Amino acid sequence: MAAGPALWLGPLLLVSLWGSSAPASLLRRLREQIQRFQESSVLSLSLDTGAAALPKEGWLEQPLDPFNASDKRSFLQRYWINDQHWASQDGPVFLHLGGEGSLGPGSVMKGHPAALAPALRALVIGLEHRFYGLSIPAGGLTMAQLRFLSSRHALADVVSARLALSRLLNVSSSSPWVCFGGSYAGSLAAWARLKFPHLLFAAVASSAPVRAVLDFSSYNEVVSRSLTSAAIGGSPECRAAASSAFAEVEQRLRAGGAVRAALRAELGACASLGRAENRVELLEALQALVGGAVQYDGQAGAPLSVRQLCGLLLEGRSNGSRPDPYHGLRRAAQVVMHSLGQKCLSFSRAETLAQLRVTEPQVSGVGDRQWLYQTCTEFGFYVTCEDPTCPFSQLPALPSQLELCEQVFGLSTSSIAQAVAQTNSYYGGQTPGATHVLFVNGDTDPWHVLSVTQALGPSVSALLIPGASHCFDMAPERPSDSPSLHLGRQSIFQQLQTWLKLAKETPVRAGV
Ligand SMILES: *[C@@H]1O[C@H](CO)[C@@H](O)[C@H](O)[C@H]1NC(C)=O
Ligand SMILES: *[C@@H]1O[C@H](CO)[C@@H](O)[C@H](O)[C@H]1NC(C)=O
Ligand SMILES: *[C@@H]1O[C@H](CO)[C@@H](O)[C@H](O)[C@H]1NC(C)=O
Repeated sequence: MAAGPALWLGPLLLVSLWGSSAPASLLRRLREQIQRFQESSVLSLSLDTGAAALPKEGWLEQPLDPFNASDKRSFLQRYWINDQHWASQDGPVFLHLGGEGSLGPGSVMKGHPAALAPALRALVIGLEHRFYGLSIPAGGLTMAQLRFLSSRHALADVVSARLALSRLLNVSSSSPWVCFGGSYAGSLAAWARLKFPHLLFAAVASSAPVRAVLDFSSYNEVVSRSLTSAAIGGSPECRAAASSAFAEVEQRLRAGGAVRAALRAELGACASLGRAENRVELLEALQALVGGAVQYDGQAGAPLSVRQLCGLLLEGRSNGSRPDPYHGLRRAAQVVMHSLGQKCLSFSRAETLAQLRVTEPQVSGVGDRQWLYQTCTEFGFYVTCEDPTCPFSQLPALPSQLELCEQVFGLSTSSIAQAVAQTNSYYGGQTPGATHVLFVNGDTDPWHVLSVTQALGPSVSALLIPGASHCFDMAPERPSDSPSLHLGRQSIFQQLQTWLKLAKETPVRAGV
């Protein structure tokens, strides 16, 4: 373990900087805000119970290029440890993998896997992903550096962290290690088990999009379906209202002149809408607003649930006056901007580009540049609305999204398509062939269509939780959680019990 900066408050400080007005993808801001809520509840927990309850922060010295032994450069990777429940050296270890953002102390204190630790007497370790949060190599985010950012590098880090922390913490060689993660990190958890079964006994992969896809048009198919789901406050009328709100936005954009200027002020578009590319930015942000309400439905810190969004879009309907969906969308935009502390919902394409080109890590705080790089070189995941039944604007189209890879990194469209195909052949897409993996998804989450939602034989199980949004199973329990979510979390617990029993009967002896 290398000594590192004692920046315990790092993630909170970083988050507060992100409240600025710099352009960043709306979905990623929402994600950070939800994480901030969880972190602040850990902070208040520790204020209540004293510093003893705080997790320990540590730093591992990792090779920058794990695939080239003659390259001696290294970087410091941050991790968190909660050993309060770990009863003996041969108890289980829950390794919570970070994804495309910072990983704070909440990762080992709250929600899954931490909430499972007391009953299963597990050691909980959180490992931040290289190039995100405070685990950014010296030299920042230049192209020369970003060569060392990929899921394969991240998996190499998992292996070396697994070996180093075993020694450091005197973990018994018979202890089963179980990986956890949500979203991209959920894919990493499954892939870690797939590629290194001798080191990692099992994995719980939450909302893991294991199939890479260039044109992710099915994202908006699920968003559209979820807007009609009565279980979460949607209805066919709500989807129709969303559709007519978008149609009206497009109509007002076409009208130009004073109408367009009014729309700009009403929806919080900070850039002039005279330019087509800025109109696309606005439509993209509005889609992310609706997509975000679905993706993070019901979660603490999310500014708008599906029920609230539908309430705004259909306001006036209950008392017999005609609803005004455009007005509702406008209100929704204000709610989201206010909640995120942003004065703009969308920025100019030029500003967005300039921000994505910044190679100093602290400025592009939410990791937009790094994640864009990973989508351009591994995953795609570009959300489009090309299907004629898609209720939103058909803009932004795929080419304008792919253009970002070219403009920011000089990567061609054909190289991206190739990279996406390569990722699927390397990991196996939706049939990864791993054992001891539990895939957990929510059926209203737009990402579940890229995950595994049906058991693939006896040792790969799948749980599809009705009415649950993205990674909801990992969030701290709340009284407002639905019965199906509660049941889903119980199934995860039971699966872990089964695995840990199996591990006891057939001890893994990693010879390292
Ligand atoms: C490996 O690292 C050495 C030392 O930095 C460097 O000279 C060499 O080009 C690297 N090889 C590859 C394949 O990157
Ligand atoms: C490591 O754990 C073993 C039990 O697994 C124990 O016998 C030994 O004393 C421990 N060593 C240290 C340095 O804590
Ligand atoms: C119906 O409700 C809307 C929104 O709450 C309000 O603006 C409108 O004045 C109401 N109309 C009547 C007739 O009460």
